[in-house]
Amino acid sequence: MTDTALTVQQTARPTGFPTPDHFRFAESPVPEPAPGTALVENLYWSVDPYHREMMDEHFELNAPLEGRTLGRIVATRDPVALPEGEIVFHRQGWRTHAVVRPEEVRRLPHHDGVPLSAYLSVLGGTGLTAYVGLTRIARLREGDDLFVSAAAGGVGTATGRFARLLGAGRLIGSAGTPEKVRYLTERVGYDEAFDYHSGPVADLLAEAAPTGIDVFVDNVGGEHLGAAVGALRERGRVVRIGTVGQYNTPEAPPVLFNHADVVEKSLRIEGFLVSNHRDVQEELYEFAVPRLLSGALALDETVVVGFERIVEAFLLMLRGGNTGKILVRAADRPHG
Ligand SMILES: NC(=O)c1ccc[n+]([C@@H]2O[C@H](COP(=O)([O-])OP(=O)(O)OC[C@H]3O[C@@H](n4cnc5c(N)ncnc54)[C@H](OP(=O)(O)O)[C@@H]3O)[C@@H](O)[C@H]2O)c1
Repeated sequence: MTDTALTVQQTARPTGFPTPDHFRFAESPVPEPAPGTALVENLYWSVDPYHREMMDEHFELNAPLEGRTLGRIVATRDPVALPEGEIVFHRQGWRTHAVVRPEEVRRLPHHDGVPLSAYLSVLGGTGLTAYVGLTRIARLREGDDLFVSAAAGGVGTATGRFARLLGAGRLIGSAGTPEKVRYLTERVGYDEAFDYHSGPVADLLAEAAPTGIDVFVDNVGGEHLGAAVGALRERGRVVRIGTVGQYNTPEAPPVLFNHADVVEKSLRIEGFLVSNHRDVQEELYEFAVPRLLSGALALDETVVVGFERIVEAFLLMLRGGNTGKILVRAADRPHG
């Protein structure tokens, strides 16, 4: 094991898109675990749109950043709660090593045949967001026609695959490139998809869903939200998951939609935070693990190799360079 640890720190607050200059890698000796703690060597890191929101005020400058991570316990001062060799989920990400207390980690269930990365993608917060959005917020009914924005991202691909397995009707997705549009229809199971750069979203949606939609799963906000309110049928539902279209463009114009539509079509617009739905995690495992093992559910992941590329991976994701959930894998970790 190396004796040098690396952490990523934010050095300045960005306006608009962040750049590599807003971060620095800091070296320090690998920390020693104190009694009641353990040292974790991190293996997989999640970089997420919410990190961009945190950069505006919540991340402390010149201090190690946090994020969802999987790592292996390599030294322990609490062998019962934190046994050496165990793989754990924790939130001290953006660093190669972390010292954790038992209450700060979740031990992963042992599902033979499930790749480790899945616990940060379709079985992790990303998959849980998609699953809660469909089952608790949309309260999806068999045959419901769905439109999903940022459909080729982590939450968007999981939403499409889960919706198909849950008996949805037509699935329509929007994404940022023609390659992603093809990926959605050829690989993920979407019936129709469009590149939102190729015209007004309302027109593209009307073409893709000429008879309307029942549910809109919204990862983007803005123009997508306005278009979807217009396309929703009576008793339609909008699941507000995120607003990634606005995190780097704070000056973006406000969303315009016909407010009377919400009344006249009896629409429901509801947002949620996945952190308030952790109780659904076991149900997600029960739903997704057997389907992953049988091949009915596949992983959509972009894996960037090497901790030193974590900032690059984060910035790539903000500009749409990922398909499926973006993860960073330690360079010396074999795939799986
Ligand atoms: N509510 C919750 O608890 C919760 C939990 C997790 C995630 N989220 C939210 O869910 C959304 C998706 O998160 P994720 O982790 O799955 O990320 P992701 O979709 O894998 O990655 C972000 C994607 O956003 C798209 N994007 C970027 N700028 C855009 C713009 N101006 N207009 C339209 N699309 C744009 C890009 O794809 P294109 O190439 O298609 O543009 C990019 O790939 C985010 O809004 C995130 O904040 C919410």
